[in-house]
Amino acid sequence: MREKLEQIQEEGIKEIRSTSDLKELEALRIKYLGKKGEITQILREMGKLPAEERPIIGELANKVRETITEELSKSREVLEAKALNKKLEEEAIDVTMPGKKTSLGSIHPLRQSVENLEEIFIPMGFKVVEGPEIETVENNFDALNSPKNHPSRDLSDTFYITEDLVLRTQTSPVQIRVMKESKPPIRIISPGRCFRNDTPDATHSPMFHQLEGLVIDKNITLGDLKGTLEVFAKSFFGSHTQTKFRPHHFPFTEPSAEMDITCFKCGGEGCSICKGSGWIELLGAGMVHPNVLEYCGIDSEIYSGFAFGMGIDRITMAKHDIDDIRLFFENDQRFLQQFR
Ligand code: PHE
Repeated sequence: MREKLEQIQEEGIKEIRSTSDLKELEALRIKYLGKKGEITQILREMGKLPAEERPIIGELANKVRETITEELSKSREVLEAKALNKKLEEEAIDVTMPGKKTSLGSIHPLRQSVENLEEIFIPMGFKVVEGPEIETVENNFDALNSPKNHPSRDLSDTFYITEDLVLRTQTSPVQIRVMKESKPPIRIISPGRCFRNDTPDATHSPMFHQLEGLVIDKNITLGDLKGTLEVFAKSFFGSHTQTKFRPHHFPFTEPSAEMDITCFKCGGEGCSICKGSGWIELLGAGMVHPNVLEYCGIDSEIYSGFAFGMGIDRITMAKHDIDDIRLFFENDQRFLQQFR
């Protein structure tokens, strides 16, 4: 038995040391130390030994078991470390590899226009303010001197939420809010969404964008209005651009005008874009009506001012030669990608 134990120890050590696989090692553990393992087998047979040999063989068997156990755990440590290293090597990240490219979005052409407009007006001393898209009928019409029977108030032109609330049809109600809340001098622009009950087509959208401008101070004249808008037109469309003011009517300005610019396409000669006239109609403007000033608590004997309102969609279409307003709102990437 002694010999057998010694042989088990010798073979065990050899086998364990030559294993390079953790599964194999586990099989060896079962082979030697398991319930049916070789050492266990011998311990079971000890009863057959003469009494004086039992403790000696017992001691030896325990030693062999200890030795094998130790060998197993040493081997396990080594193999586990190897496995870990292998895994680390396989999963190594090359930090010098170029990263995956994520495709970035871009700023919507209308938003680009708003930013452009702000860059033009802020250096002239304008502050940017915003007003709500849901407005009172009072701010959207009454305070702006619109007669009760004005056609724009009609259900067919305006989205009513209640009798007294509308989706604003223009950014002009922001004029009222600003004049009621602050004292002159006032110099603001206000970009935002507006809504009209229009059927969509190439030049109409029930939701569109305007930029309102308002200046109130002592001694503000029509000359200031023209000069300011000329700076805008040249900055936005290019220094060769010329402006022209035509008389017009708005209830909240007197006198009122529309401003045209020379066609960006043909430079004034006449083409399909300007329908042969050489001019493109751009915005509405005028001197703030005294009724509006007084309504907001501003003394029209002391103060005067001008206001203007332009369609942001319209000027963006003019600038980039876009022929359908609906393109702005369809979110077709083939369109949007052209404005990166
Ligand atoms: N609110 C007018 C419109 O929507 C434009 C405008 C604004 C005209 C300010 C004069 C002064 O047509």
